[in-house]
Amino acid sequence: MYMKAIKIIILFITLNLSAQQGGMWIPSLLKGMNETEMQNLGSKLTSDDIYSINHSSLKDAVVHFNGGCTAEIISDQGLLLTNHHCGFGQIQSHSTVENDYLQDGFWAMDIKDELPNKNLEVTFIVRIEDVTKAVLNGVTDAMTPKQTQATIQKNTNTLQKNYTVAAGQKTKVKSFFKGNQYFLFVTETYTDIRLVGAPPSSIGKFGSDTDNWMFPRHTGDFSIFRIYADKNNRPADYSEDNVPFTPKHFLPVSLDGVAEGDFTLVFGFPGRTNEYLPAVAVAQITQKVNPTNIKIREEALKVIDAAMKTSVQTKIQYASKQAHIANYWKKWIGENQGIEKSNAIAKKRKFEAIFQQKVNKKRKYKKYRNLLADFDALYASYEPYAVKRSNFIEIFYRTSDLMQQMFRLYQLEQSASKGAEVFAKTKQYVVAQIARVQKDFNPAVDQKVLEAIMPLYDANYGGTEFYKTTKFTNLTDALSQLEGTPEEVVARINKDAAYQFAKPYIAEFYGEMSSKYRQINGEIAKVQKQYLKALMEVLPDNRYYPDANSTLRVTYGQVRGYSPKDAVYYNHVSYLDGVMEKYIPGDYEFDVPQKLQDLYKTKDFGQYTDANGKVPVCFLGTNHTTGGNSGSPVIDAHGNLIGLNFDRVWEGTMSDMNYDPNICRNIMVDARYILFIIDKYAGCTRLIDEMKLVHPKKK
Ligand code: ARG
Ligand code: ASP
Repeated sequence: MYMKAIKIIILFITLNLSAQQGGMWIPSLLKGMNETEMQNLGSKLTSDDIYSINHSSLKDAVVHFNGGCTAEIISDQGLLLTNHHCGFGQIQSHSTVENDYLQDGFWAMDIKDELPNKNLEVTFIVRIEDVTKAVLNGVTDAMTPKQTQATIQKNTNTLQKNYTVAAGQKTKVKSFFKGNQYFLFVTETYTDIRLVGAPPSSIGKFGSDTDNWMFPRHTGDFSIFRIYADKNNRPADYSEDNVPFTPKHFLPVSLDGVAEGDFTLVFGFPGRTNEYLPAVAVAQITQKVNPTNIKIREEALKVIDAAMKTSVQTKIQYASKQAHIANYWKKWIGENQGIEKSNAIAKKRKFEAIFQQKVNKKRKYKKYRNLLADFDALYASYEPYAVKRSNFIEIFYRTSDLMQQMFRLYQLEQSASKGAEVFAKTKQYVVAQIARVQKDFNPAVDQKVLEAIMPLYDANYGGTEFYKTTKFTNLTDALSQLEGTPEEVVARINKDAAYQFAKPYIAEFYGEMSSKYRQINGEIAKVQKQYLKALMEVLPDNRYYPDANSTLRVTYGQVRGYSPKDAVYYNHVSYLDGVMEKYIPGDYEFDVPQKLQDLYKTKDFGQYTDANGKVPVCFLGTNHTTGGNSGSPVIDAHGNLIGLNFDRVWEGTMSDMNYDPNICRNIMVDARYILFIIDKYAGCTRLIDEMKLVHPKKK
């Protein structure tokens, strides 16, 4: 009897996991299936609590943070919470060798100390509307990809022009389900965003690359900003007269924490996923694209990591770049392992065989019979271009700072033949890009990086002597090269040795490599659109959710541990004790600030513990997330903040192509750890006083 009950419970849990989780859903379409699924998982929220255009709802507390991360409002004065790694660039830009906020943290003890940031904005979603009919008006299956694109563009332009919005609002149309559906977003962007607080990297980036994409995790990956507005609470660029923003909604913060099985909702802006790729594409990505890019980054990182240990200056210069390069380097490795271990390609092939069988059986599906064969042919011709192009971008755009500048110069040269106006505009852009790169440019390290990675692209590349003579190793000389008429600039840069080196590679990239890539990509997109439509028609009982596309989404699940390998189980929560277990005095990744050690020793934990008296640090959930979800609020069954999303587990990073609820987990910082650090570690109690702390479980 007892065993039977357990079996039923286990069955229920498994069903729960596989049947009802996964997916990044459109917030305006939650009524019905999603609402029911969420309530089955324990939610007390209605779809209207999450998204409404008639009254304030959870969505009014969630913003896109500078287009790449997510952040949420946690007070009635526009206090904004996001990840440390999302505010990293801003924290770095305020840092100097004397005042190193990355190293030591930063806390505005008074509102007057909050630091303005150039080029930082947050965007609210005001409303979402299905505009599929208007966008696809006049599009037919017979059209070429180019014609389709042109029609869609024209329709979109008309739509955006005729759609009336309030002053300061904008509209944006985005494609969903591979172009089968379109939504219009009305947005509102605030541009005076100030830095309020950040823990030292030894808390905010604790464990660094070793722990990145991993559990057990002990990172306090958070930073705090504030939105400022003009006197009428409207968006305004930085001004001393601006005041803290009054939000339509903010999230109360729960002090009650989480138990395994608790409902979790992650609300944010996931960037890009590809859940409906055919097996042949997954094979190409994991067997051809990923391995070559991993190798390039690995070689670059060896040089960068060593250089960063030689001086504080270099460490600051490379902090942000290194983190970016290391992040996806490790992610791709995990993704490959996950795809392999879960047999994802073979499983996808099996699934495709079933699909094909069903298609072959019915006349009405005749138009779908060749889709999979088309994929095979297209991906085969795509491969050489896709791989080389991707490697090019790694080297000439993402990794070498000198080559990135050359890339911009090439764009400038191309614009010279397009008239003075185009040239002037391009130049303005190129100058800004070069200035940005030069801010943290270290030519000596960069040269070693290029020497390490260039042979992977061209074994006969001929060396890097040009670092000695190029004018693009300091900003003053670089900008002096760009003065004068278009002809003068073009003639001058063509004499630069670095440009002479880079130009043929860049020209090759812009030549056949890109045109072929784009052409085949267009064909693939057309088949992919048909394929997804076919899947929904032929296998209508499956759950279909749109791939991530940097728009606002809801993903839900439960707090849950997992088993990464045989005989190992990871608990759903980690504690401050684990920080101390990992502590290595003076270490680059695992040092622990003295103050935190003292708090631990004296058990000065305040109200921020679990029932067992320990301070929770991170916890795991089954929410389907991806890059861009960093900084997303984790919301409980009642709409309170319980955590801050920041990562996924290694075994599950394949979720971008193959979400599997059994091993894919998102990693979150417990809200109480954030409060503990702000209150007890930093003593910035004015922020705690500003928030609304609640006890939803103690009603
Ligand atoms: N892996 C997380 C995400 O993709 C966190 C990255 C930041 N941390 C780091 N060590 N690079 O953004
Ligand atoms: N760390 C990622 C981010 O920055 C989140 C993820 O990929 O899970 O958005």
